This record gives sequence, structure tokens and C-alpha cells, in this order.
Amino acid sequence: MTSIPDDIFTEPDDVADDTLANLGPLRRLAGTWEGRKGVDLNPKADGPERRTFIERIDLQPIDAQANGPQLFYGLRYHTRILATDEDTTFHDQVGYWLWEPATGLVQQSLAIPRGQVALAAGHATADADRLVLTATRGGTEYGICSTTFLEQAFRTDSYRIEVTFNPDGSWSYVQDTMLAVHGQAEPFRHRDVNTLVKVAEPRLNPVQLPREF
Ligand code: HEM
Repeated sequence: MTSIPDDIFTEPDDVADDTLANLGPLRRLAGTWEGRKGVDLNPKADGPERRTFIERIDLQPIDAQANGPQLFYGLRYHTRILATDEDTTFHDQVGYWLWEPATGLVQQSLAIPRGQVALAAGHATADADRLVLTATRGGTEYGICSTTFLEQAFRTDSYRIEVTFNPDGSWSYVQDTMLAVHGQAEPFRHRDVNTLVKVAEPRLNPVQLPREF
């Protein structure tokens, strides 16, 4: 277990206003992105279903966040995905990517509207070309929490995302969500992959903009 400082209340006094300049490896995720080559493998009664999808993800800087002495810089995101052959939303997701410069901790919190949340974590250097984050069901620190129905019918045992920053400025992810599907003997690997290309630069974080309320 990591030790915590004696003083858990005092916040750091060197908090920067400019989030984009302090995002470490997450700087390369900031902005609005589109991906047209997504592939999803999801569980269906008669076996895995493979669908192709298009994706838009908006990752915008938030103001620095302090938990007492712990300091994060981060991005708030919204992902919307459409299957290539359908107009209704195929997948929707919101959350935060967070970076703790003092320790190299990278976190992704995610919420999806099936009634599921997760907090995944990993470590990286500020100039990393690759991020790997995981969450495990049952973990009280970096865990997964689901509705009663999902727990019983499609239990999510683990989540892993691997992000690769490509030399051309795009980035790719491979995401594995391991499901225990009721009535099926083998675990199901619900896999999603895509490559995202920037379509707009990020905005400034709120403290740098004129006050709105
Ligand atoms: C690109 C990302 C993702 C896409 C496109 C996607 C898409 C889908 C689709 C199409 C289904 C089948 C829905 C149905 O049959 O009604 C499904 C099922 C499921 N997904 Fe995902 N998913 C993604 C990511 C995730 C993540 C990150 C998690 C959890 C951490 C997750 C958890 C589940 C679960 C628990 C189910 C089973 C429930 C069900 O089939 O109704 N998915 N997903």
C-alpha cells in the first residue's frame, strides 16, 4: 500500500493555471478527434458479433484538481459512436483522463449508459508513446461497478485500454472488456479498436477564459 503524507489537507501552492502545458502524456489526447475505422466485437446469444463503427471523441482540459496534496491535471471527454450501418447511437461514454505529475499516475474514469462505471489506472512518463490502464471488478481502488442486471447477466471482470500515439499525430486504442456472460462457459473478450485523427484543437481550460458565472 502506498503511504500517504501526514498532512492530507494542505493543497499544493504551485498549481498551474495552464492545464494544456501540464498534461504530461495526455497532452497528445487533447482536442476533438474522429475515427472511421472502428471495429467492435460484442456478445450476442449465438456468438460474437463484429461491427464496424465511426467515432467522435471530444477531450477538453479542465482546471487543475487537488485532493489535499494530490494534484491532477486532466481532460473531460465525451465519446459518441455510431455503427457504420445504423443511425442510432451504438456506444456513448463520458469521463475524465487524469495525470498526476508527481507520480506518473494516469487515470481514466468512465461512465457508460448501460449503468456501469469504472476507474482505470496505469503509470507513464510525460513523453510516453504508449499508455496502458486497467480496472478490475471487485477492486475498491481501480474497480468496475455495474447494475444488478449486468452483474448477473454480463458480469464485467476487467477492463484494459492501451493507447498508442502514432508518429503522424493520430492515436489508436485497443480496449478489452472481459465479460462473464450468463450461460456461457468461456469468458468473452469484448474488444474495441480505433484510430483517431484530430479535427479541432482543444479549448483553454476554464480558469483561463472569461468568467461565465
Ligand atoms: C468503443 C467502445 C464500445 C463499443 C462500440 C461497445 C459496443 C457494445 C455493443 C454493440 C454491445 C451489445 C449491445 C446489445 O446487444 O444490446 C455491447 C455490450 C456490452 N458492453 Fe460494450 N462497447 C464498448 C465499450 C465498452 C466498455 C468500455 C465497457 C465496460 C467497461 C462495455 C461493457 C459492455 C457490457 C457489459 C455489455 C453487455 C451488455 C449487453 O450486451 O447489453 N462496453 N457493447
